[in-house]
Amino acid sequence: MIDPQDLQIALSSCNASAAQGGLQAAARPEGAADAAARPQTAAGAEKRPLPDLRLVIMTNREPFSLSSARGSLRLKRNSGGVVSALLPVVETGGGRWLAWHTGTPEERQELTRRVPYLELVDVSADEVRSYYEGFANGALWPLFHYALDRCRFSNDDWDTYVRVNERFADQLGDAGDALVWVHDYQLCLVPRLLRERNVPLHRLAYFHHVPFPPPDVFRVLPWHRQILEGLLGADQIGFHTESYVINFLRACELLPDAQVDFQARVVHYAGRSARVGAFPIGVDAPAIEKLAQRPSMTGEAQAIRTALRVDKLLLSVDRLDYTKGIAERFEAIDRFFTVHPQLKGVVSLLQIAVPSRTAVTEYRRLKKEVDELVGRVNGKHAEPGWQPIHCTYRSFSLPRLVAHYRAADVALVTPVRDGMNLVAKEFCASRVDDDGVLILSEFAGAAESLGRGTLTINPLDVRQFVAAIERALMMKRGERRERMAWLRRTVAANDISGWVNRVVAHATQAW
Ligand code: G6P
Repeated sequence: MIDPQDLQIALSSCNASAAQGGLQAAARPEGAADAAARPQTAAGAEKRPLPDLRLVIMTNREPFSLSSARGSLRLKRNSGGVVSALLPVVETGGGRWLAWHTGTPEERQELTRRVPYLELVDVSADEVRSYYEGFANGALWPLFHYALDRCRFSNDDWDTYVRVNERFADQLGDAGDALVWVHDYQLCLVPRLLRERNVPLHRLAYFHHVPFPPPDVFRVLPWHRQILEGLLGADQIGFHTESYVINFLRACELLPDAQVDFQARVVHYAGRSARVGAFPIGVDAPAIEKLAQRPSMTGEAQAIRTALRVDKLLLSVDRLDYTKGIAERFEAIDRFFTVHPQLKGVVSLLQIAVPSRTAVTEYRRLKKEVDELVGRVNGKHAEPGWQPIHCTYRSFSLPRLVAHYRAADVALVTPVRDGMNLVAKEFCASRVDDDGVLILSEFAGAAESLGRGTLTINPLDVRQFVAAIERALMMKRGERRERMAWLRRTVAANDISGWVNRVVAHATQAW
């Protein structure tokens, strides 16, 4: 095992100028000095009481799925913070959950029998291709991530998007005194459609889980006006960051009859008013901390490092998506080992890439690109018994992910654009040992709240990227501890139940 001191000598002897101040230095986190003295559990990481109200949730993807095991169907709760945070509120408050159904009628029947509050909206295979793969993920997803060159606009896909949104709106019926909460870019038109149908409902909220680009980017969408009108049917529209709120408010000025009050964050349009706000989503910090504190965890983390045979482990976990900056990261790794050949055999990157949207052309192309890059970088630098990049294409359970987070010396969370990025927050919540360094892209929504505790970079600046890896690897234990304790406290204070509470309180208060 190399000592951090040895690594420091190795790095500085090879790149003295960089080590002496040429490296990208992020400011010390505020309040860092007293952080080291804090106890092991991050302040605020207790379970918060969830709101007591009737919720009607509308999401594209269903919160449960069925898998067949040995001839019988097993109910599986889908992963993700939103599902685990909102299900208890729906269940205890007598709420409802509306989501698409793309399976067979038998599966539909079985799902709704086992989960009585689940109401499924049928979406055919052709509609999945057009509404989900075509419009939601071929047009809106790249548009909202500022990736105009990847947008594919099709009138037919737009028509299907309208049709499926209408079907969701038609399914709601009387919502009584519940808070109806519509989620994400697949369902942008639903709020306005509910108003047009005069559906009886008390309050209507919409949350946008992805970025919202500046108006010059957004207006490229031929149907940008309809998307804005769709969203403005809600009483409350939530985003992850202040900058997305501002981008949205500015986009609303594209509607000639809209009155935008930047001060009050309210948009008046078509006789209605919508309040807009930033509500950064969090992770289930108490649950992750609990997993990370399991007695077996140290051994599991050590086993991961041993299997990879490295002294310093860099880790990235992403859905396989072009917004995640995976190719840019591999370029940085290539350059790192070109500059630091003496660290071959010492440092490796483990990339966990979770397959996603594999029917969409851009995603298939990305898989090929990533495969080729891994081959090129490994071919260039590998030595017997060691390779610079290990890439796995599969998903991991949360406990296994936590073990990987604990095993890493440095997490690289470096998307080229990301609404929030919960991997960054999961990594921090897992580090109950107050160790590990987080390199975070300034283009992740998480940078707005975590930036001061991380090494923040522009992932397109390969020199800055390499310098951040150097700095992370050389960082002394004291500084790592101070930064991570601050990050953990910040993540725990803004966890998923706090997010639900804040959105709901804002959406239901009188104004
Ligand atoms: C990401 C996005 C979400 C999206 C989710 C699932 O996490 O931030 O907005 O809903 O992926 O995407 P999928 O296409 O697999 O349903």
